Order: sequence, then structure tokens, then C-alpha cells
Amino acid sequence: MTHARAHPNIALVKYWGKQTKPGNLPATPNLSITLDSLATDTVVTAHHQDEVWLNQEQVTDQKILRFLAELRCEFELAPIRIETSNNFPTGAGLASSASGFAALICAINQHADLGLDADLMSDWARRGSASAARSLFGGYVALVPPLWRAQPIAPASHWPLKAVVAITNETRKSISSSEGMERSRLTSDFYTPWLRGSGDDFAAAFDAINNKDFSALAEIAELSCLKMHSVMLTSLPTLSYWNPATLACMDAVRNLRKQGTAVFFTIDAGPQVKAVCEPQDANRVSDVLTQVPGVIRTLTCGLGNAAHIVEP
Ligand code: DP6
Repeated sequence: MTHARAHPNIALVKYWGKQTKPGNLPATPNLSITLDSLATDTVVTAHHQDEVWLNQEQVTDQKILRFLAELRCEFELAPIRIETSNNFPTGAGLASSASGFAALICAINQHADLGLDADLMSDWARRGSASAARSLFGGYVALVPPLWRAQPIAPASHWPLKAVVAITNETRKSISSSEGMERSRLTSDFYTPWLRGSGDDFAAAFDAINNKDFSALAEIAELSCLKMHSVMLTSLPTLSYWNPATLACMDAVRNLRKQGTAVFFTIDAGPQVKAVCEPQDANRVSDVLTQVPGVIRTLTCGLGNAAHIVEP
């Protein structure tokens, strides 16, 4: 039995859209922070057939089955039972596929003795779900060409920011990120400008992190998020992941900032709002977001560590 744990990450410069060649390669460079208190735990054991259990229920997960098939083109991998569980809502814009594939490749690597280092595990995790490549590492992480394996750019200790996650709906999203981004590539007039601007956005965020320049990071991260959502909204049919509470949280974050609190928001393919702030402001941000009508609860996370094996 092999047990691995990985944490979800949230992108500050977003990935939305894939290249057309194989390998599940993002069309744009992207950058994230790995979170600490949210986690996926995955246990892999030898079994007479492949089986996948998600949050204690047996499931048929096409993405995982395709991933196993791809792995078996390169490695000997006998049938396995995969038991994976998340301590946070699954498939609701909280990056469960990122922590999921990062934990899965980490567990399989150890179980089947594949001999992959973190770089190669990141490569494999990306093939499962591109954002998962980033969850192989802790702290601040970049996913960039030419290899599209994630690289740690700064440890959590460099700038220990906090993320307050406001949960506004715990149900699974109806359109997956993979499907949504393909729709955007094919139909949104904003898609090409989105691709064109991404290199500059990445460079600006990278510099802001190096210099620990909060207001520069806030500006670029909110802009990257809003550009991505503009691409989503202008896709045909439209991709609208927000609800009224999402918008109210965005306003609450802007108000906090007007009052002098260093905080910015980011939102992925779901209605949850992640507010990133300095540690001393996390309680205040959480108190304000908790009171926004429609917010079910908030979770406060620090920056987390890399995917790893949990020793029995
Ligand atoms: C909005 O990594 O879930 O969270 O590669 O198709 O599995 P696939 O997509 P996925 O997309 C994540 C998109 C995002 C932005 C981000 O995390 O960069």
C-alpha cells in the first residue's frame, strides 16, 4: 500500500486553453501558489483489476483511466486499486484535479517503482491535468515552455501569503475545464488576444513575486483572472462560472483594498473566490467574506509543500 498526499494550487496567472499537439500542453505560461490546508490523499494498492474510489465511492473516471493507459504505454504497471479523497469540495473550482493527479502519479511512482524524479512526475501529472503539474511543488510554481514541466520559483518561506477561500456553492461544475477551454479556443474572439498577453502577464507576476511587491502582484493576478473569465464569458455557448455571491465577494475584496487592506481575488472555473492577502490580514478578510450573502463558509490556507509520500 502506498499513500501519497498533494495540495491543490491556485493560479495567479491562469492557464486556459491548450496547444493542439499531444501531451496536454497549455497554450500560455502560468504561475501558481500551492495551498497547505486543503489536500488530496491517494492510496494505491495492487488489485486484480483497476478500480477507482473517490471519496469512498467507486467511480468510473475516464480521465484517470486514460492516464493509466498512457502510463502503461511506457511502463509495466499491473492493475491497481486507487482510493482517493479530498478534504474539500471536489470538481467545484477548487483544483481537485490538480492535487488529484499530483497525488496519483506520486503514489504510482512509488508503488510501481517507476523511478521518476519530481520533474518527470510533473510531466506525467500535466498529462492527466495540466494544473496538476504545478502541485508537484510547494510555494510559488511556474509552468512554462519549452518542457512544460512545473518549476518551483520561490519557496513558501520567501513570501508566506495566505489565501482565504470563500465557498459559495459546493456542487460539481457542469462543464469541465478541459471542455470549457476547448470551447473558448474554438469560439471566443478574445482567445487570441488572451494568448498574446499571457507572456507579459507571466513576466510581471514573476517579477512581483521576486520583489514581494504585493500591489503589483494584486494588479496582475486580478487582471489575469478577469481576462480568463472574459474569454470564458465570450465563448459560445457562454461559460459563466460565477453566481451572485461570487460577484459580491469580488466587491468585498475591492472594498477591503480601498480601506487599506492588502488583498486581491482570483477565481477559477467555479464560483468560489480565493482572496490572497498578507498573514496579518487573513482574519479580517475571512470575517468580511463570511458575512457576504451566499457565502457558505471560508477556509484559510497558507502556502503548502510539494506532493509527497505519507509514510505509514
Ligand atoms: C481555471 O488543469 O483542470 O483552474 O488540463 O484540462 O485538466 P485540464 O485543465 P485543468 O485547468 C485549470 C484551469 C484553471 C486555471 C489554472 O489553474 O491555471
